[in-house]
Amino acid sequence: MKNPGSDPATGRAVLKAFLAEKSPLGPLRVMAERVGRFFQVPLPFFSPYIVFGPEAARKVLVTERKKFLWRNHDPVTDLLRRGVLITDGEEHDHYRKLMEQSLHPGALPRYAGMMRAQTRRVSATWQDGQVIDMLVEARKIALLIILQALFSRDAWDDLPRIWTPILKAIEYISPGAWILWRNLPRPGYKKHLDALDAYLYEIIANRRAAITNHQLPIPDDLLQHLIDAGLSDDIIRDQMLTMLIAGHDTSTALLAWVFAMLGQRPETYTELQRQLAETPPEKTPPLLDQVIKETLRLYPPIHIGNRIVAEEVTFGEGQTIPAGARMFYSIYLTHRDPAIWENPDQFCPERFAHGRQTPPMAYIPFGGGPRACIGAAFGQAEARIVLSELLQTFDFQPLNPHNIHPHMGATLEPRPGVLMKVFRRQATTNNYNLKSNTE
Ligand code: HEM
Repeated sequence: MKNPGSDPATGRAVLKAFLAEKSPLGPLRVMAERVGRFFQVPLPFFSPYIVFGPEAARKVLVTERKKFLWRNHDPVTDLLRRGVLITDGEEHDHYRKLMEQSLHPGALPRYAGMMRAQTRRVSATWQDGQVIDMLVEARKIALLIILQALFSRDAWDDLPRIWTPILKAIEYISPGAWILWRNLPRPGYKKHLDALDAYLYEIIANRRAAITNHQLPIPDDLLQHLIDAGLSDDIIRDQMLTMLIAGHDTSTALLAWVFAMLGQRPETYTELQRQLAETPPEKTPPLLDQVIKETLRLYPPIHIGNRIVAEEVTFGEGQTIPAGARMFYSIYLTHRDPAIWENPDQFCPERFAHGRQTPPMAYIPFGGGPRACIGAAFGQAEARIVLSELLQTFDFQPLNPHNIHPHMGATLEPRPGVLMKVFRRQATTNNYNLKSNTE
C-alpha cells in the first residue's frame, strides 16, 4: 500500500501545503497528486483511508455499498442520534421512505412561491449601500425555507432564538481536536444543544396538540408524515434535526460560494445579470444552472463521505482496506482530478454548457446510488430561486473577492465570509423585477 508518510519529499510537500492553506484540503490535493486515488492519512492517532475518482465512488455508493456503514461513533451520531443520515439497513430505509415524498421532484413546485417570499423577506431588511455578509444572509434564507417547507413553521420570529444554537450545533459536529482525542471534554455546547432540542420538541408538541384539537387544516408536510407513521417524539426529533442541519447548512454554503465566485468573475456576473433580465421569471437562464453546477464542483458543500468499512474491500489494483477501518470518499478530490477535468482548479461554468457530458460518477456533489442526497432536487430548486430573486433585485459589489478561503466545518464554507455592498436596482432597469415584486 502506498503511504505518503513513508516518502519524506511528500511529507514536506504536505506540510508546506498545510501551512500555506491552513486547511487539510491542500495536503489532500498533494497526496492525491503524488500518491494517487487511494492513500492513508499518516497521522499518529488518526489514519483513515481516502479514496476518490469515479471507480471508487461507484464502488462505495453503488456496487459494494453494503460493505460500508454510515453509522459511526462521533459527535455527529451524538447529536443526530438515529437520524436518517447516520443509520443503516432497514431502519435507514424506513425513515428515508417516509421523508422522500416531501422532497420528491414532483413535490417541489409547491415550495417555489414560499422560497421566493422568504428570500424577499430577508433581503427587504437590506439598506441601500449596506455591507452584508452573504454567508450570514444565505443562512437566514435557508433556515426560513427549510423550517417552512418541512415543518410548516414560520421561523421569522424564531431566528434570534435558534441562531446561536444552530451555529453551535454545526460547530459541535465540525472537524476538530475531537478527531484525535475522542474523549476530549467539550464544554460550552450543552446549553445550546438543549435549546435546539426544546425548539424541535415544541414544534412536535404543537402539531400533536393541533391534531388532538382538530385544528384544521393539518399541514401535509414532512413532520406530519413522521407523526402519521407512529414514530416517537425522540425519533421524530432526530429526523427533524438531521433535515434542519443537512438541509440548510449545505444550501447556505452553496449560495455563499456562488456569490464568492461571481465576485471573482465580474464578466460571469455581468453576463448572468444580462441573461436573468431576458429570461421570464418561471424559467432559469442557462448560465445560472452552469454557475450553480460549477460552484458545486469546485466547492462541494459536503466534500467528503464518511464511512466505516464493515467488510474488507479492495480498490484499484489490490489495495485493500480491512474491516473496522474508517474510510472517506472524497468528493472534493474527485471534482478536481486532472485526469477528468481540464484546468480543474479554475472556475469555468461553460464546462457545463448544454450538451457537454461529464463521465459517470465523476461529478457527485450530491453523492450517488440509493443513498444519494434526499434533498438534491430541493436544494437545486432553492438555489435557482434564491439566486435569481436576489440577482434580479440587487446589484452586488464584492468587497473581499480575493480574500476568501474554504473552511472545513460541517460543510465547506467560504471564510471569513462573503462581503458584499448591496444596491437595490431601479425597478425600471428590470421588468421582471417589477413583476416578481407583485407575485
Ligand atoms: C446544495 C445542497 C446540498 C448538497 C450539496 C448536499 C450534499 C449531500 C451529499 C453529498 C450527501 C451524501 C453523503 C454521503 O454519501 O455520505 C447527502 C445526503 C443527504 N442529504 Fe444532502 N445536500 C444538499 C441539500 C440537502 C437538503 C436540502 C436536504 C434536506 C431537505 C438534505 C438532506 C440530506 C440527507 C437526509 C442525506 C442522507 C441521505 C441518506 O443517507 O439516505 N440535503 N447530501
